[in-house]
Amino acid sequence: MKIVVIQGPNLNMLGVREQHIYGPMKLEQIHEQMKNFASDNGIEIEFFQSNLEGEIVDRIQECLGDADGIIMNPAAYSHTSIAIRDAIAAVQLPVIEVHISNIHAREEFRRHSITAEVCAGVIAGVGPFGYHLAMVAMTQIFNEMRAAQEMQKAQQQQA
Ligand code: DQA
Repeated sequence: MKIVVIQGPNLNMLGVREQHIYGPMKLEQIHEQMKNFASDNGIEIEFFQSNLEGEIVDRIQECLGDADGIIMNPAAYSHTSIAIRDAIAAVQLPVIEVHISNIHAREEFRRHSITAEVCAGVIAGVGPFGYHLAMVAMTQIFNEMRAAQEMQKAQQQQA
């Protein structure tokens, strides 16, 4: 099973930008922890960060037929990007959306995520630990996918 992690605009500035909101951890450190979790659980993982909407749309599209799930922090695009939302809907892969901060407790314009509406789940407000929780959630989704496939196979053999 393979997860692609997609990080939106300004997340390359983690550890520098607004530390009182996002904390001191750098993106590379978060990815290192995710890589360790993936290797402990036999999961393949790839990372991608971009400040450009179209590049994020391209990367989501590339997941079709290549990845089994996406963990994504669309950052500011969560609140604005119909293109990213449509790309998520198009690939029909399970997506867990992560927000480091609690977007529901911040400015009005951050309280709604249009991308979250097409995601399997959302984790917000627990800091970088949210990425770990997203890995756990995706592992559970993969287990359920495998169980459903096996059940289908057994039913086909019986028929
Ligand atoms: C964020 C929340 C967004 O509103 C913001 O634009 C970000 C980061 C978060 O992880 O808390 O860049 O997605």
